[in-house]
Amino acid sequence: MAEQTILVTGSTDGIGKATARALAFQGHRVLLHGRNREKGRAVLAELEAATGSDRLSLFIADLAVQEQVRDLAREVDRASSRLDRLINNAGVFMPEREIAPGGIEMTFAVNYLAPFLLTHELLPLLERSGPARIVNVASIAHRSVQSFDRENLPGFEDYDGYDAYAVSKVGVIAFTIRLGRTLEGTGVTANCLHPGVIETKLLRAYMGRRGGGGPPEKGAEVEARLAISPDAGKVNGGYFEENRWTRPSHLALDPDVQEWFWETGLDLTGMGQW
Ligand SMILES: NC(=O)c1ccc[n+]([C@@H]2O[C@H](COP(=O)([O-])OP(=O)(O)OC[C@H]3O[C@@H](n4cnc5c(N)ncnc54)[C@H](OP(=O)(O)O)[C@@H]3O)[C@@H](O)[C@H]2O)c1
Repeated sequence: MAEQTILVTGSTDGIGKATARALAFQGHRVLLHGRNREKGRAVLAELEAATGSDRLSLFIADLAVQEQVRDLAREVDRASSRLDRLINNAGVFMPEREIAPGGIEMTFAVNYLAPFLLTHELLPLLERSGPARIVNVASIAHRSVQSFDRENLPGFEDYDGYDAYAVSKVGVIAFTIRLGRTLEGTGVTANCLHPGVIETKLLRAYMGRRGGGGPPEKGAEVEARLAISPDAGKVNGGYFEENRWTRPSHLALDPDVQEWFWETGLDLTGMGQW
């Protein structure tokens, strides 16, 4: 495939970093993103040395802070005349409840609202660059949610770390399907995925010292596949679990749930009617 310009959020560690490396090896122009400048620079230097690519660049934004998400979109737009792929990979698992600006629970802020906002902010650039793809990183953990208390969001006062994580991923999938419908006919598609159980610091935050997952390169294969493979370009609003397209949970497929996440995203990011 011809060179694509690809933004990978959360590419300073784990699966995102391995995805950026794989895409750089394939000759694509990769826009790295992280929240810590020092760590980001070290990863940029490491990937440049490992891949021999001079087509990498680095963007810094804390995705828990909506103003920084907006700045990230503006900086990408300024730095690049095109964006062919947006991979919303960054994510957190928070064993203890933390609150992001606006009284929003951290997992919900980073895993759901940040990709929701970044995607909307970057849509004009993606549409200008079409055919383009949005790839959202969800999780098989979403299947554990049978129902959730809408009143408990966005502050998640009654907190359980796994629950918060799983609900945020229901949101990612519901958003992707809803977005896919909106994008019909625009030349941009949106799909989401579960990368497998992968040994990263996120998995360790959930499982304890050793998570026992596969190597980041395995998760990266899934992300790169949805971003690059020609067959994935024909799917819109789909969910890919490890090695196949499949149906997500009933909850994520429920149009009422999809609408609720969409409206909540608009409300909490101040986008109102979009
Ligand atoms: N690992 C698994 O088994 C598994 C399974 C299913 C789904 N996933 C999903 O895969 C994605 C990648 O996770 P991972 O396992 O690779 O985790 P990871 O190794 O902890 O990497 C997460 C990345 O997101 C960045 N990030 C976290 N919070 C951020 C914030 N507030 N602002 C900006 N960047 C932020 C991290 O930056 P720092 O480098 O500064 O920490 C890092 O680059 C996540 O969406 C996760 O939910 C993972």
